[in-house]
Amino acid sequence: MSNEIKKTFHITTFGCQMNEHDSEIMAGMLIKAGYEPVKERKEAGIVIMNTCSIRENADKRFFGTLGQLKHRKENGENFIMCVCGCMPQQQHIIDTIKGKYPWVDLIFGTHNIHDFPRLLENCVSEKKKIIDVWPEGGEIVEGLPAKRLYKHKSYVNIMYGCNNFCTYCIVPYTRGRERSRSPEDIVREVTELAKDGVKEIMLLGQNVNSYKGVSGDKATPTTFAQLLCMLDKVPGIERIRFMTSHPKDLSDELIEAFRTCKHLCHQIHLPVQSGSSTVLKRMNRHYDRERYLDLVKRLRAAVPDICITTDIIVGFPGETEAEFDDTLSLCEEVGYDSAFTFLYSVRKGTPAAKMEDQIPETVKHERFNRLVDVINEGSARRNAEYVGRTVDVLIECEAKRERGDGLDRPGPGQVTLSGRTDGFKLVNLAGSKELIGQIVPVKIISSNTFSLVGEPARG
Ligand code: 5AD
Ligand code: SF4
Repeated sequence: MSNEIKKTFHITTFGCQMNEHDSEIMAGMLIKAGYEPVKERKEAGIVIMNTCSIRENADKRFFGTLGQLKHRKENGENFIMCVCGCMPQQQHIIDTIKGKYPWVDLIFGTHNIHDFPRLLENCVSEKKKIIDVWPEGGEIVEGLPAKRLYKHKSYVNIMYGCNNFCTYCIVPYTRGRERSRSPEDIVREVTELAKDGVKEIMLLGQNVNSYKGVSGDKATPTTFAQLLCMLDKVPGIERIRFMTSHPKDLSDELIEAFRTCKHLCHQIHLPVQSGSSTVLKRMNRHYDRERYLDLVKRLRAAVPDICITTDIIVGFPGETEAEFDDTLSLCEEVGYDSAFTFLYSVRKGTPAAKMEDQIPETVKHERFNRLVDVINEGSARRNAEYVGRTVDVLIECEAKRERGDGLDRPGPGQVTLSGRTDGFKLVNLAGSKELIGQIVPVKIISSNTFSLVGEPARG
C-alpha cells in the first residue's frame, strides 16, 4: 500500500440543516484545494465526521461509526480522520476522543470551519495530530465556496448561534452567541446563487426572528422581515423559506411580510416543544400556550393556506399526565401539517439535566406513541384536503425509492419524480426527467400521511 494520502474525501453529516450546510462549505473548500469527493468512505484519503450533539442518539451513532473506523486505522490503512461540528465543542467529548480514539488526526469545532484547509494541510504535511476548537465565534468569514447538494435550491446562513438557553438544549453551548450576517452579504450571496440557477433558498439560523443585520452605513439594524423584503426582489429567486422561528420573537412585521413578499412560501416551522404553559416555563421558552395559539390564529388569518410544522419534546423532566394531555390537545387544536417529535434526552451541562423528576423511559415511549398517532392523524387529514387541487410543485429529483403508491411503473420515457409544494409538502408524480428544476402545476390525485401523489396538470 502506498503511503501517500489519496486526494479524495468523504463527509458523514449528522444533525440539522446548519450542519448539512457546513458540510457543503467544507466540501467546497476541499474541492478548491484539489481534493475530489467520493461516495464510499473506504475510498477516501480524508474521512470527515461532522457531528451533532442535540440528543444522545446522535452521540451514540457518532461513537459507533468511530468504533468501526478504528479497525481500519489499526490495520495500517492510510487516511486522515477528522472530527468536527458540535460534539468537539464540549470538553468532555474531546477528553473521550483523546482517551478512547487517540488515532483521530484532526479535531476542530463549529467556529473555525473556514480554517479547515489550513489545519488539514498541517496535519498531512507535518504528520501531526491537531486539536483546534474555539470556545466562541470570531468575525463572520464571508465568501467561502460551497458544493451544493441540489442545483435548484440552496441553504443560506443568515445568522449563527443562539442566545435563548432553553433549559434542555445544548446548542447555545456548541454554537455560541447570536451573530447576524450583514444584509448586503446575504443579498450578494443570493444574487450569485440565482445567477447559478437556484430558484429556492432556505434561510438558516437557530432563531431567525431575532436576526439583526448591521450595514456599514445604517444606524438601525435590518430586521428579519426587512431582510425578507430585500431578498424578495432578487431576480430569479422564486421561493424563499426560512428556519427556525422562535415563537417568542415572531413579530407582526413578519406576519405582514407573508402578505407583502411575493416569493415568501406559505410555510412556517414554529417549534412549540410543549402544549403546557407550566412545562414551557420550565423549558425557559418565554411564551405560554395561549400566546402560541394566538400566534397560529394570527398567521392563519393573514395567510389562510399557510402550512405549519413544529418540534415537540416528550417527557421533559417533571412532565405530568395532565401536562402531556395539554400537548395532545394543542396539537389537535393547531392541526399541524407535520411535526418532529423527540423523546427528551439528557444533555450534560444543561439546566434540565440537573432537574429532579426525570421521566422513566417507558413512560416517555408510551406518551411518544400517543403523540405520534395524533400528529399522523392530523397530517393525513391536512394532506387529504389537497386531493383534487392543482398546486405548483418545484420538481427536485427522481423519487428516492419506489413507493408502492401506484407510481411504481411510470409510462415510457417517464420516471417517478419528487418535488415540493409552496407549503413544503412532498409530492410524487410520474413525469419526464426534464421537469427536474422546474416549477410545474400538478393536480393532486391522492394523499398519504407523509406525501401527496399527483400528475402534471393539463391545459
Ligand atoms: N432532548 C430532546 N429533544 C431536543 N431538542 C433539542 N434539545 C433536545 C433534547 N435535549 C429538539 C427540540 C428542537 C429540535 C431541533 O431538537 O425540539 O427544536
Ligand atoms: Fe436550542 Fe432553544 Fe436555541 Fe432552539 S432556541 S437552538 S431549542 S436553545
